[in-house]
Amino acid sequence: MSVSSIAKTGKFKNSSCILYAKMGTKISFLLFLFVLPAVLADLRVGFYKPTCPEAESIIFQAVQKRLNTDKSVTAALLRMQFHDCFVRGCDASILIDSTSQNQAEKDAGPNQTVREYKLIDEIKKALEAKCPSKVSCADIITVATRDAVVLAGGPNYTVPTGRRDGLVSKAGDVNLPGPQVTVSQAFQFFKARGLTLDEMVTLLGAHTVGVAHCSFFSERLQNDPSMDAQLAAKLSSICAHSNTDPTVFLDQGTGFAVDNEFYKQLLLKRGIMQIDQELAQHASTSGFVSRFARDGNGFKQSFGNAMMKMGSIGVLVGNEGEVRKNCRVFNPKKKPTVPSPSTKAKVSPPSKKADNTKQKKPKGKEQKKKNKGKKPKVPSKKNKKNIIKSTVIIN
Ligand code: HEM
Repeated sequence: MSVSSIAKTGKFKNSSCILYAKMGTKISFLLFLFVLPAVLADLRVGFYKPTCPEAESIIFQAVQKRLNTDKSVTAALLRMQFHDCFVRGCDASILIDSTSQNQAEKDAGPNQTVREYKLIDEIKKALEAKCPSKVSCADIITVATRDAVVLAGGPNYTVPTGRRDGLVSKAGDVNLPGPQVTVSQAFQFFKARGLTLDEMVTLLGAHTVGVAHCSFFSERLQNDPSMDAQLAAKLSSICAHSNTDPTVFLDQGTGFAVDNEFYKQLLLKRGIMQIDQELAQHASTSGFVSRFARDGNGFKQSFGNAMMKMGSIGVLVGNEGEVRKNCRVFNPKKKPTVPSPSTKAKVSPPSKKADNTKQKKPKGKEQKKKNKGKKPKVPSKKNKKNIIKSTVIIN
């Protein structure tokens, strides 16, 4: 059931959602303890050191240059990473262009206003010139977003790399929460991807930067007691130009800075979207909002950790997927070599393992289903040394 249909039909019963949420929190905690370290074991800090030592500095310089001309790039990249990671995992499937045979994720409704694809193209071009076919588009999104967060005054969190690019991108797979979902409904999306309620409130703190179009919140401007009356009047006059669809800052205090001002605004009833304001009202989340509003450093620390966790959702690693040469198109399929009659007998059929043309299911949801009832996966000795500790440096 899509979120918009849930919102329209009201089929989700809040009490069962809350019960479900409590069970989910426990499961998510176990997943965080056992499954997440296993995924992170496949991602490594400094993955590109041997193959493309300048990769991270090339990305940083490109982001910095772009931010010098447009401060809204941080918001664009944060939203791009969210929309990528929540659909088939962080595999850059959002970057694929549609073709006559395939309508890609990019062209699904919720992705219409995702921006900065050209910046990713530029970074990819620079990386291909330096070290061809080494750095994945999925890693470019993740590292570039972190850099943009740092340059906007946010935390400098560790980004382990080694993600591979996905082989599937379908508009029909895009099922993201809309701005009118309730806290409980929104949490279903986060819990399904192994994130806790606390982390959901933290990640929604990304609305500390960027804008929303009037069409996403205009129904709140008439008689919504949870919005400050002065703000409602101001937004009404901005949104009156109905033939355009103007935008306003999601954080009415500091729209370009990654800080805790967003939460302070929520306490003043100055949240723009319904889901944002509800975080301050709902009994299960209002405590987190007050804590972050009081403690700016605490927010940054939590935000860095939550971004790191979001960046590990459903990642492809090792021989899975591919490293695209162009982030907008899948690599051409390799033609199978026709064996000559003399070698024919010696050629064994390709093993399933070696078949990289098929998209493996994202590890996130499916892997978690498989893990149900099984003992949690404890990293092997070999993997143990690769497990990275999260590091978040607050500016
Ligand atoms: C329940 C969860 C969420 C909902 C319902 C939601 C919804 C929205 C909507 C409707 C917009 C306005 C888009 C537009 O007008 O073009 C928006 C903007 C934005 N969202 Fe979210 N969002 C959610 C979670 C997140 C998360 C987890 C992140 C990142 C970690 C994020 C980052 C952003 C950013 C940075 C913008 C501003 C984009 C820009 O300026 O171009 N959002 N969101």
